[in-house]
Amino acid sequence: MGVGLGIDIFDTQPDFRTLIANHRAGFDFLEVYSRGDADHTDDPFAQIPDDVPRTYHHEGLDPVGPGLCPDAPIAGCVKNQQLLAPPWTVEELAVRHIDGKYTDFFFPAILNTECAAATIRNLNALHSILPAPLLPENAPYEFVVGDMHLADFLTTVAHGADCGLVLDLGHYWSYQLCVGKGEQPDHGLERLDLSRVLEVHLAGARLEPYAGGQIYRDLHGAGPIPEASLFLLRELLPKLPNLKAITIEVENATERAAIAQAAQVREVVRATLPAWLEAASVA
Ligand SMILES: [Fe+2]
Repeated sequence: MGVGLGIDIFDTQPDFRTLIANHRAGFDFLEVYSRGDADHTDDPFAQIPDDVPRTYHHEGLDPVGPGLCPDAPIAGCVKNQQLLAPPWTVEELAVRHIDGKYTDFFFPAILNTECAAATIRNLNALHSILPAPLLPENAPYEFVVGDMHLADFLTTVAHGADCGLVLDLGHYWSYQLCVGKGEQPDHGLERLDLSRVLEVHLAGARLEPYAGGQIYRDLHGAGPIPEASLFLLRELLPKLPNLKAITIEVENATERAAIAQAAQVREVVRATLPAWLEAASVA
């Protein structure tokens, strides 16, 4: 797939139509996010030309919950997959609904064997229903519950549900900040089965200080990509044999800023692993 941009289909900035019309050379594909909405996606999805490759980022399947989510979000995911025909769909390893109420933030996976087992059950059930593969993504952490290392959790889930992974580099660092390893963004990565990582995410972010340390806040396109995320990209690129896509999540960026971040990431890839860029990119 190459180097692509993660956009919200309902955003007016960046407007995906403008990106496609005026900046097509700046990205290889779009990762399309609709906030989990499937009721208002027919028209905007139809405006993405067939020759723009795309992946789909769903929300609402809550795969780390104790049981399978209700039928409606699954039906919405099926519908959006059918409209977009992506090679795979991304979903955060988090819960957004508790007792039917939408939470303000991603409630990330509890890091223990019980949650890993429930997640595997949920993903296997979802894989049997959805028409295209579902790749779970490590969610942002503001606090950590559980005694399992995130890398062990991700490896356990990928093996148990026999699926690929999306590794969000900023989110990985957010976990490190929670467990006192903020100075070592790559700490523990040797415990992750890197052969399972099919896609990498990067995004703008800021660090918010608090009495006990710093919390990672996703800003997506409204801020710079942290150096820790770029460091992880440089470290990991030669170690990801099945990497197919690098997505820069650019919600809230101007079109120019979105393309500039794609160019910044493309330069890192060109300097680190030029053969991958040549093989994967059309831009
Ligand atoms: Fe992400």
